[in-house]
Amino acid sequence: MEAYSGFAEVYDFLMRDVDYNGWVNYIEKIFRKKNFNPHTILEIACGTGNITNKLAKRGYDVVGIDKSTEMLTFAKNKAYDLGADVKYLNQDMRELDYNKNVDSILCLCDGINYILEKQELMTVLKKVYSLLKEGGLFIFDISSYYKLSQILGSNIYAENFENVSYIWENYFDEEESICELNLTIFKRKNKLFERYQECHYQRAYKTEEILNALKKSGFKNISYYKSFTFEDINYEDNRLNFVCEK
Ligand SMILES: C[S@@+](CC[C@H](N)C(=O)[O-])C[C@H]1O[C@@H](n2cnc3c(N)ncnc32)[C@H](O)[C@@H]1O
Repeated sequence: MEAYSGFAEVYDFLMRDVDYNGWVNYIEKIFRKKNFNPHTILEIACGTGNITNKLAKRGYDVVGIDKSTEMLTFAKNKAYDLGADVKYLNQDMRELDYNKNVDSILCLCDGINYILEKQELMTVLKKVYSLLKEGGLFIFDISSYYKLSQILGSNIYAENFENVSYIWENYFDEEESICELNLTIFKRKNKLFERYQECHYQRAYKTEEILNALKKSGFKNISYYKSFTFEDINYEDNRLNFVCEK
């Protein structure tokens, strides 16, 4: 199955311990640290809208973009339930197309790791740059090289709940710097379980590769931190957060 098709149904359950309010607080702290007061935000790889809908409820004018129609269906339903006014668009970020320039663009929780080729990363960064207003901020994170190569890669994870279980088998390809994430999900359908499988590929980028690509795309005042903090990064940090300006 295509990545984030069947998985969409269980994504929010499996992410239930993620502090999305805290994540949105962190984004707002970055805005304050930069003395930046955005109104329009484009969130790419927005998934089921966990951040997008919260930003809208906090008063921003938000557009959410994702490649997976299934993830977007959940995002839209949740926006409706919450009364969050968000426009959702089904797009691949490598072909990002929006008709207005915005104050800030976000890509959170691994979106950039799904861009597997350096050339494609350049395409995405250039598109993001062109859609930002002058002085606009691009904020994104990556799962670190360390996390993908040493923690997730070559490990198997499994959890077993009453209505859903999963096995997550990973393999890290050193030569290509790609982590293959094989997910087998069992979801209860009445008395039986439906089993489906998805394979995701994430690229493990080194910090230098990201910094070079950002500079080549025209970004300036680039900072990067251990995610959710403003601390310098260490090799063993799992998530790195980048902030850069047009
Ligand atoms: C781990 S989820 C993160 C979702 C959301 N940002 C969150 O914090 O919960 C990664 C998302 O990236 C999306 N994605 C992967 N490749 C993409 C691409 N090329 N263009 C747009 N979205 C993409 C997937 O569909 C998925 O929804």
